[in-house]
Amino acid sequence: DLAPDLVVVGAGFFGLTIAERCAAELDLKVLVLERREHLGGNAWSEADPDTGIEVHKYGAHLFHTSNAKVWEYVNRFTDFTGYQHRVYSQHGGEVYPLPINLGTINQFFRSAHSPAQARELIAEQASELGGKEPENFVEKGVSLIGRPLYEAFIAHYTAKQWQTDPEKLSADIITRLPVRYTYDNRYFNDTYEGLPVDGYAAWLERMADHPNIEVRTGVDFREHREEYVGRVPVVYTGPVDEYFDHDEGRLSWRTVDFEREVVDTPDFQGCPVMNYPDADAPYTRIIEFRHFHPERDYDSEQTVIFKEFSRFAEDTDEPYYPVNTPEDRAMLMRYRDRAKAEDNVLFGGRLGTYKYLDMHMAIGSALSMFENKLRPHFADGEALT
Ligand code: FAD
Ligand code: NA
Repeated sequence: DLAPDLVVVGAGFFGLTIAERCAAELDLKVLVLERREHLGGNAWSEADPDTGIEVHKYGAHLFHTSNAKVWEYVNRFTDFTGYQHRVYSQHGGEVYPLPINLGTINQFFRSAHSPAQARELIAEQASELGGKEPENFVEKGVSLIGRPLYEAFIAHYTAKQWQTDPEKLSADIITRLPVRYTYDNRYFNDTYEGLPVDGYAAWLERMADHPNIEVRTGVDFREHREEYVGRVPVVYTGPVDEYFDHDEGRLSWRTVDFEREVVDTPDFQGCPVMNYPDADAPYTRIIEFRHFHPERDYDSEQTVIFKEFSRFAEDTDEPYYPVNTPEDRAMLMRYRDRAKAEDNVLFGGRLGTYKYLDMHMAIGSALSMFENKLRPHFADGEALT
């Protein structure tokens, strides 16, 4: 048993990046507490028991970044495949490419528009409101891409995501809906993209594989805080409202339910992600995991799919996406003040800051916390605030 120099709460990408940097660069003994039975946070993956296909237990995770520092850092722990993400959408009995692009537009309108003609068409359809300020989500959507495309690809999809009539959703849920006037349907625009060659679990385990790092899984920090808070510096990546016993209220989240099915065919849908933007399908999309790794030649004659259902999270659900109502934002300000006042405890990660973070953002943000707060503290004796 080591007497830790630093306690990290949560073994997701944020917590593991902090632990790895402090152990490797500053030779600190780091104790990581994780309440789940595995490390890795929401990026964890495992082999499906029936098919052997790698499944992302908490939803599909695609790695992409334009941050060269983050890219260099993550490549210390894993190689990446050349995977490029693409998404399709099944509407009215037809399959269209996403994000909405010239191919989508020409298929939808049964046309052969040039980029300029398509631009003109969408601009005309989007001008329906005649310059009036959009007052709700529907008007905002129509003002961005016109009513026909909005109703086909966005309206019901959004209603399913939020379990709310889009007329009742705020206009500022969307600021932009990208439309590409080329046939490029590559999903991400980032410089670097790929999937970990031997899976997320192997990558995450390698980050923790250092003699100065001990990860204890199945341990909830709430039952041990007196042992550590005030005695040893803590980096906390759990929910910020939970740290303060919800004194200021509960921050609201959306969650996703995954319905796993093993299907008796080697290929169910021919692509990794198919959206279902129509009202008649209760799920928002279907993930078929084998397509994330075409290079692997999985030998199963079956395939595993996850149907995704989105809803507001109850207290016992996994929090996935911040709802971010005005009440949430006001509450968050109060929690931020309290977090700042908490000496020797730093709050980070998506739960600790109540922010949706992609993996590269969580890692980048942890690298910054290491350079700006932890190194100055441990190497130069600066206060940890
Ligand atoms: P987490 O991964 O949530 O880790 C926090 C950890 O803290 C958890 O393991 C939790 O169990 C633990 N914890 C909390 N409280 C306690 C406590 N009291 N005691 C002990 N342990 C505790 N990013 C991408 O880049 N690409 C994607 O395609 C992508 N898809 C996503 C899909 C979904 C459905 C979700 C929810 C996220 C997705 N992300 C994606 C984001 C990615 O999961 C996060 O960026 C990343 O996991 C954040 O890491 P984190 O360490 O901040 O949080
Ligand atoms: Na603090």
